[in-house]
Amino acid sequence: MKKIISLAAVLLIVFVVQAQQPLYKNAKATIEDRINDLLKRMTPLEKAGQLNQLNGGIFTGPAANDPGQLAKIEMVKEGKVGSFLNVTGANETRALQKVAVEQSRLGIPLLFAFDVIHGYKTIFPIPLAEACSWDITQIEKDAAIAAKESAAAGLHWTFAPMCDISNDPRWGRVMEGAGEDPFYGSIVAAARVRGLQGNLNDADHIMACVKHFAAYGAVQAGREYNTVDVSRVALWNKYLPPYYAAVKAGAATVMNAFNVFDGVPASGNKYLVHDILEKKWAFKGFVVSDWNSFDEMITHGYAANRKDAAYKALIAGSMMDMESKVVVDYLPELVKEGKISMQMVDDDVRRVLYYKFKLGLFDDPYKFSDATREKATEFTQANRNEARKAADASIVLLKNDHNVLPIDAASNPSIALIGYFAKSKADLFDFWIANGKAEDAISVLEGMKERFVHSNISYSDGYLPDGHTNNQLIEEAVANANNAAVVVVNIGLSGKLAGEDRSLANPVIPEGQVALLKALHATGKPIIAVVSAGRPLVLTAIQPYVHAIVYSWILGTETGHAVADVLSGDYNPSGKTVMSFPYAVGQIPVYYDHYNTGRPLPDSGDQNWKSRYRDIPNAPLYPFGFGLSYTHFNYNHLSLSNNTIAKGSPLQVTVQLTNTGQKAGYEVAQLYIRQMTASIVQPIKALKAFKRVYLQPGEVKTLQFTLTDKDFSFYDGEGNVHIEPGAFKVFVGGNSHDVLEKDFTLK
Ligand code: NOJ
Repeated sequence: MKKIISLAAVLLIVFVVQAQQPLYKNAKATIEDRINDLLKRMTPLEKAGQLNQLNGGIFTGPAANDPGQLAKIEMVKEGKVGSFLNVTGANETRALQKVAVEQSRLGIPLLFAFDVIHGYKTIFPIPLAEACSWDITQIEKDAAIAAKESAAAGLHWTFAPMCDISNDPRWGRVMEGAGEDPFYGSIVAAARVRGLQGNLNDADHIMACVKHFAAYGAVQAGREYNTVDVSRVALWNKYLPPYYAAVKAGAATVMNAFNVFDGVPASGNKYLVHDILEKKWAFKGFVVSDWNSFDEMITHGYAANRKDAAYKALIAGSMMDMESKVVVDYLPELVKEGKISMQMVDDDVRRVLYYKFKLGLFDDPYKFSDATREKATEFTQANRNEARKAADASIVLLKNDHNVLPIDAASNPSIALIGYFAKSKADLFDFWIANGKAEDAISVLEGMKERFVHSNISYSDGYLPDGHTNNQLIEEAVANANNAAVVVVNIGLSGKLAGEDRSLANPVIPEGQVALLKALHATGKPIIAVVSAGRPLVLTAIQPYVHAIVYSWILGTETGHAVADVLSGDYNPSGKTVMSFPYAVGQIPVYYDHYNTGRPLPDSGDQNWKSRYRDIPNAPLYPFGFGLSYTHFNYNHLSLSNNTIAKGSPLQVTVQLTNTGQKAGYEVAQLYIRQMTASIVQPIKALKAFKRVYLQPGEVKTLQFTLTDKDFSFYDGEGNVHIEPGAFKVFVGGNSHDVLEKDFTLK
């Protein structure tokens, strides 16, 4: 009897508590009902708070008493902050979340965001390098690992993937993207979103952020934060497709770009945010500014003051304000004055709250901040194995005269390993390394010693950290080379010169390194250049002095292992560049999918009065899609299912691929098309399909591609899709230049 009474009492208490509990705290209610309930309870200032994102930092230990940090804590208590960026770690995020949940009036949890660009603790190759693998499964897997490591450290959200198409290696941020091609960029962007987000319903995935919307990759002269001035035809056909693919893949958020489009800053650009993103693409997530980009509309000359900046950002459709605090400062006033409607504010806030509910933060605000899981998840051997696979596949072999590579480890050759970067772990990493630590990475020197364990590997610097050299360094390097059977020289640029605010007017091999290579070449030894850089560099100056060029980009944690895997032939290089390598700086931007012009340069014959340079070729040094292997692939028998097809019916394209060399390996077969005549001129080639296939020596495979209307379509400047009948060409090959070709007609 006693037991029955106490059970009844417990049930009664539960009932009373539930009845008193606001609906938004009831885990059994629908997200929609919970949001509606919460919105009713919020003041305009609290709503503005949900649209306010602050830069975080450290909030525990001695830093907790810093006046700046204390002020931020006060804002959290007052409900004036919806999200922080740059607060990481299970303990830090937990401490700050506790303030929001326990000390603010409504207890709305915070969203923690961070730039996890290519890994959190296990650092993968930079996104540009990883894209050169054309291995979409691996790319998705890498993003999933980055998400898992981040999620365990209390993060809910990363500012990735960057989907900016760029033709310009002067721009330091090309490292963050997937290169110059919109079709390929779209496939990579979607894979990255899938990997990061999964279904966003567990504690292993985080929200993605599609950035920088839009056309940031077109900054003039590659100068960071500079003006963008592209046509609407270029916007729709070249720049928008990857953002669109990422949105369609379900990305939760989109970030405004810093640049203007059509003279209006992206953050206040109604055409971009409202008309395209919201209306045309039916984006249901939320839009976040870039750092201070609402406020910067004043400097652009588009907003008169901070209040005007808040107004112009919000009415354009932008929502969350990263760091400029104009929304939290002025939204209530703007509503009161009737300048912006409460309905619009509610719609914006609803989107932010939706993700807080979806991630489960109202029911368990500390779901992601788990120190035990953090320890167990980060930098595991399994994660590092994936990083090594990704790094192997990212490397692009650009040159291999007389098959100087691979180096036969079994013969224990003596190796002169030259180049400061081969030893310097700090230079292995770029600007965006999240929580990665240089000391955890494998240097090229370490990787080589591990692999060529019975070889004498003798190291010398060859050049200074800034790329300059001197006689002494050159003499030491030459003496080293003279004593070795083979010379490996790690040159290029420090990872520190890749990323935001790292524009270069001269993306070239530093003169000191060229001088070093000249001297080494004179020894008569085989010279293998391993080039590290976060972008394609102009390699013309080193061409005559090296027998092999292994482009290793910035590969992350497993750099040394991956370089040794490729140099030894344990991994047969398979990467294909996703950006053209310019012949000279003056040729930039150089890209494969250009227009024909009215005066294209013929390969031979009279070249006068044609579109050309008098001093250099038109073609890049290495074209888009190019990369060598230790084996050789032949393309034969390109055939089409029909020479004429009707709109709506597919075209089958087949080609025979043979591995004619001695080694098994991957080949990335690429299919391009060209529409010969259309209402808007079309590129001379446009990638439409690819296959990454593995072939044993002597193996022959028939590859089949299916093209449909979508592949024959293009946009006009208003974003309307056109499929126009006419003559087309299909090209298939191992890069964008060396291809087989066939004609067909679309009826
Ligand atoms: C500015 C960069 O443009 C953006 O990509 C990044 O996510 C934010 N800063 C936050 O760090």
